[in-house]
Amino acid sequence: MSDRDDVRRAYDEITATYANERTTTRDDEAAALEALFDGLPDEYRLLDAGCGQGTPALEYALDPSNGCDPELAVGLDLSRGQLETATRLVPDAALCQGEMTRLPFAANAFDAVTALYSLIHVQIDDHPAAIESFARVLRPGGRLLLTEGWTEWTGSNPNWLETGTEMHWSMAGATATRAQLESAGFELVARGEFRDALADEEDARFPYFHARLAE
Ligand SMILES: C[S@@+](CC[C@H](N)C(=O)[O-])C[C@H]1O[C@@H](n2cnc3c(N)ncnc32)[C@H](O)[C@@H]1O
Repeated sequence: MSDRDDVRRAYDEITATYANERTTTRDDEAAALEALFDGLPDEYRLLDAGCGQGTPALEYALDPSNGCDPELAVGLDLSRGQLETATRLVPDAALCQGEMTRLPFAANAFDAVTALYSLIHVQIDDHPAAIESFARVLRPGGRLLLTEGWTEWTGSNPNWLETGTEMHWSMAGATATRAQLESAGFELVARGEFRDALADEEDARFPYFHARLAE
């Protein structure tokens, strides 16, 4: 079984626990999403890559005051279990099972792509393919928000969130990710850090990048 299959099976198993832990959109996430969507025209088209249960990005974008075209809020995820949870939490989003390194969408299909805590599960050698895939489906000037790890790290937790399920991560690190963004044609708009999104990991910090695809 490949690492990708392990991640997919693990999220199928733990989706209820993960959704329970990922209870709220933190203020720092809401601010970064607001900054991302502020740079876009009304009725923008959003792809949430590795959307999981659909929060926070799809939920935030689909709030009527936040401007996303409700017909074009799309969530893509590897895990069918996560997508089933998303059908409950973000029923207005269009959801599809797929792989972020080979996005099944036309070029220029979206104004924004979010990838929150999802690229960090893709094998490190495949990170450039995922970022290039984000660039391909964005229109020129489109926006990207993604989270990464601070440093390169590959590893697993045999009992993540005390579910008894092993979870794998593959972080390329902030320096490598910034270089991959530039190489795929993105310009940095802002970078910052999020407090970990899960209730039991208050001390962890993850870097994020808000980038714009060159015109
Ligand atoms: C930690 S969850 C994040 C979910 C949501 N974005 C959030 O912020 O809570 C990571 C998600 O990425 C998905 N994922 C991991 N690797 C993927 C890949 N190669 N292609 C698409 N989705 C992937 C997992 O199935 C999982 O739902």
